[in-house]
Amino acid sequence: MVTRPSDLWRGRSERQVRRLIGYPSTNEQASAWDTIRRLAAPFLNADKMVFAVPLWNFSIPYRLKQLIDLITQKDILFSFDERGMGGLVKAKRALVVYARGLDYLSESSITPRESYDLQRPYMDLWLRFIGISDIGEINVEKTLLGSEVDLETRTQGKRRAVELADDF
Ligand SMILES: Cc1cc2nc3c(=O)[nH]c(=O)nc-3n(C[C@H](O)[C@H](O)[C@H](O)COP(=O)(O)O)c2cc1C
Repeated sequence: MVTRPSDLWRGRSERQVRRLIGYPSTNEQASAWDTIRRLAAPFLNADKMVFAVPLWNFSIPYRLKQLIDLITQKDILFSFDERGMGGLVKAKRALVVYARGLDYLSESSITPRESYDLQRPYMDLWLRFIGISDIGEINVEKTLLGSEVDLETRTQGKRRAVELADDF
């Protein structure tokens, strides 16, 4: 079992390590890596990032997860060597707007965030992993309960967006 990054390298030839971490050896693989680099480029080059993320079955939508899985590669969005792991994106700030059908934040919630929300913790972890330290959030909740019920969080969300935009 690999317990520390340095264990991965110990006793292996460079060829073994290259195979282990997926460096291309055929034209088809090289072309797949080109696609991955092209998809990752906007994330690498951005000064800051803004995401709008709906909650799907307590987590993030599969298409966003697939994009994250494609671009979160060693030596593209993160480094991983004897010194450990580090994010490679230039941006240091991100804002995530979370939309949720039910209520996760209020005290009376039947789906409290501690047990039911894998959306925000996952986005937070991933953003930190790729190198972003300053992460803002806006939460719009109860969107499945009708426009009268979610009016409060929509209004607060818009107000917060205007405040954050001032120095984002
Ligand atoms: C496939 C799917 C799964 C969903 N799962 C949840 C859920 O687990 N919890 C929840 O509160 N809302 C859930 N919703 C509702 C969405 O979070 C809600 O409609 C949200 O407002 C979506 O953002 P949008 O209005 O920008 O599309 C789900 C919606 C879809 C389409």
